[in-house]
Amino acid sequence: MNDPKAEAGLVGEHPSPLFLADGTPNWRKIRGLFPATEKIAYLDIARKALLPALAEEAAYEWFADIASSEAGRHSFSMEGVEATRRQVATTFGAAPETIALVKNTSEAINIVAQGFDWRDGDNLVISEAEHENNTFPWRPLAHRGIEVRVVPADPSGMVTTEALTAAVDARTRILSVAWVAYGLGQRADLDALSAFCRAQDILFVVDAIQGLGVLDRRLDDFGADVVAAGGHKAQMSVTGAGLMYVAPRALNRFQPPFAAKYSFDTLDRTVADPVYAPDAHRFEYGNPNFLGLAIQRRSAEFIAAIGLHAIEERVHALTDLIIEGADRIGVKVRTPRAWDERAGIVSLDLGGVSAERVEAELAEDGIRVAAKDGHLRAAAHFYNNEEDVARLFDRLQHHLSKAGQ
Ligand SMILES: Cc1ncc(COP(=O)(O)O)c(C=O)c1O
Repeated sequence: MNDPKAEAGLVGEHPSPLFLADGTPNWRKIRGLFPATEKIAYLDIARKALLPALAEEAAYEWFADIASSEAGRHSFSMEGVEATRRQVATTFGAAPETIALVKNTSEAINIVAQGFDWRDGDNLVISEAEHENNTFPWRPLAHRGIEVRVVPADPSGMVTTEALTAAVDARTRILSVAWVAYGLGQRADLDALSAFCRAQDILFVVDAIQGLGVLDRRLDDFGADVVAAGGHKAQMSVTGAGLMYVAPRALNRFQPPFAAKYSFDTLDRTVADPVYAPDAHRFEYGNPNFLGLAIQRRSAEFIAAIGLHAIEERVHALTDLIIEGADRIGVKVRTPRAWDERAGIVSLDLGGVSAERVEAELAEDGIRVAAKDGHLRAAAHFYNNEEDVARLFDRLQHHLSKAGQ
């Protein structure tokens, strides 16, 4: 198979096509790898990522291998799966043995919820700002005598560290938060929360899907016991190919709720009481999503080649422009402004105008954003540019003034 990084022009001596002479990314060229950006202003990565053309090539090569005389030897190879694990670990900063290649955020959270050694009367803490998939996985525990404590957001939509920690008591066993909240876009203070959880011996779980691939922070530096992230947002993988990071200290704090081939340290079916795999492999079972993992690997290479540091800077600059655009046309920004309290999402308060209607009107204009919890959410990524943001505010101003007439 061809070397994908070389094909994408991502490796070799600078200047390569995707980098400027000073070694910084050539964002214009990189944008060109996302065909949809020619047609629309896509400010909706918080819903689904656009995928670079090289993800499509990975899928094409996967099928081509099956159609060739190789008959799928590479496409269905477990070595390919391990290559994905190594690449994801390198890109997002963790040892490969701490990564389980799970289907999505929900699967990872359910593994913890169902595998944890709960005692009657225990509780866990989440917040009202969590996505369905960091809420529903915990709900069935109520039938087992476990209290699910849901911390309310304050009137501005924020959930503070103080509010989360105030909900904890001596029976709290797990605290689970989004790194970046999907609606407001608030970034959690991982340092404060992880230190608190460590001191109280609480398992700290982070839903990282809205931050992974945007922010420059290693997975093994979250201070988390478990990090869950579906693949289909800034990881630029596909649905069904996500990841779960399990800190070595947390490996034995919950049991894999499922077991099949690859869960154990043996493939010998005659062993009556097999021992779980010694690392995060134990949370995987059965045949993996080979096609999804091939795409996940290619996209993780791509992200690493650009560099998370450069990506974070780019998203910071573009979201600053979104905030400026909102200020200019007098739309209230709900998301906190300090960079360490937000990431790629900016939530806008349309002052009573229906966010659903405006989302639909903007879509007609070729501008994709989302209505979330009654507000308009714009989410930028490195393939966006200044023109996308200008188009958004030009049309938003138009639709809002029409609504005000
Ligand atoms: C914060 C958050 N968590 C989880 C998900 C998705 O969960 P899953 O990966 O299980 O589909 C989303 C969006 O789809 C999200 O915004």
